[in-house]
Amino acid sequence: MICLTSVSNKINIAIDGHSSCGKGTLAKNIAKELGYLFIDSGAMYRAVTLYLIQNNIPLEEVQADPALLGYIKIKFLYDSDRGFYETYLNGVNVEDEIRSMQVSKLVSNVSAIQEVRTFLVAKQQEMGRNKGVVMDGRDIGTVVFPDAELKIFMTAAPEIRAKRRYEELQKKGIHVNYQEVLHNIRERDHIDSTREASPLKKAEDAITLDNSSMTKYEQARLALQWAKGVIQALV
Ligand code: DC
Repeated sequence: MICLTSVSNKINIAIDGHSSCGKGTLAKNIAKELGYLFIDSGAMYRAVTLYLIQNNIPLEEVQADPALLGYIKIKFLYDSDRGFYETYLNGVNVEDEIRSMQVSKLVSNVSAIQEVRTFLVAKQQEMGRNKGVVMDGRDIGTVVFPDAELKIFMTAAPEIRAKRRYEELQKKGIHVNYQEVLHNIRERDHIDSTREASPLKKAEDAITLDNSSMTKYEQARLALQWAKGVIQALV
């Protein structure tokens, strides 16, 4: 029997904000708790960037011939050992590769290309068509799901974000310099917020969550309270 109540009670949750402020972790935690699908839209921009690097395709070529993007297939598959969804590019697991500094340095420029955004936004909207999705990114509440029932805009001081990203990379055995990470974060903030195509901005109806001095647990508890409040109101 199909339970119509639970289907219609599902909502979409949009989480936007600056680079490295823990959007992904929060989105994953909420999705797990609610039994929703988590989608990391940044991973999709990173996968496109990796594809362009691997195939030596200059950015101007993508703008001139967006049909090139048609060769890119992105999927998220659950890895039960690691306990989260991993990104696949044309059938290959690229979860670690898309987090490299080489990709990080180019991804903001790739995501500023309107043709790339149009290609990925269509895929993201399709993924959220049946609701029950928690998606994090930069334009989820403004462009991808403008009618998301809950929108959260996350931020934290750049130095705190750089420290978190630096520690994350160290743990993965990727050795970088803290100043380089901080510089990359500041540069990405600037490109993301000033680009012409869907710049990073808070949706008017989004709730701001500054997590500079909050634990992951505190953030998840607060966001879940918000989500449950919205879901309850739909009953
Ligand atoms: O969240 P992230 O740092 O992995 O995102 C990588 C880049 O992709 C970031 O510089 C901004 C861009 N991005 C975007 O423009 N729109 C999104 N919805 C998600 C990410």
